[in-house]
Amino acid sequence: MLEKYREERGALIPLLQGAQEIYGYLPGAAMERIARTLRLPAAQVYGVATFYAQFHFTPRGRHVIRVCLGTACHVRGGARIFEALRRQLGVEDGGTTADLRYTLESVACIGACGLAPVIMIDDDTHGRLTPESLPGILARYE
Ligand code: FES
Repeated sequence: MLEKYREERGALIPLLQGAQEIYGYLPGAAMERIARTLRLPAAQVYGVATFYAQFHFTPRGRHVIRVCLGTACHVRGGARIFEALRRQLGVEDGGTTADLRYTLESVACIGACGLAPVIMIDDDTHGRLTPESLPGILARYE
């Protein structure tokens, strides 16, 4: 029984990853198609997908901004940076701007505490930030 489950997940996860790569997230229609292809109940596909944090169910921005709210960043003003971004982009934590340019997320320590307060935009780390430095940084990401 467990073996069977493992095999099913073995096929399912790469398909979910593939669909997410194409769409940037997992639309319901894509998950239903995967369920049909693998002859699995749709509920099982949803169940597996929601178990893994790597999968997203709403559209994501072209650029993902991760704002560190870990201890070092918090002490050095991370919350102010987060608040400034939240206002500037007009989205809440986890939200995506209407033009799909940015997704904003708060995260715990991203391992660059010496540069606190830190954000990551896609794979780039930006440190020693002030709220005033943010518009110039954001402008680099179309
Ligand atoms: S607490 Fe922010 S990078 Fe470590």
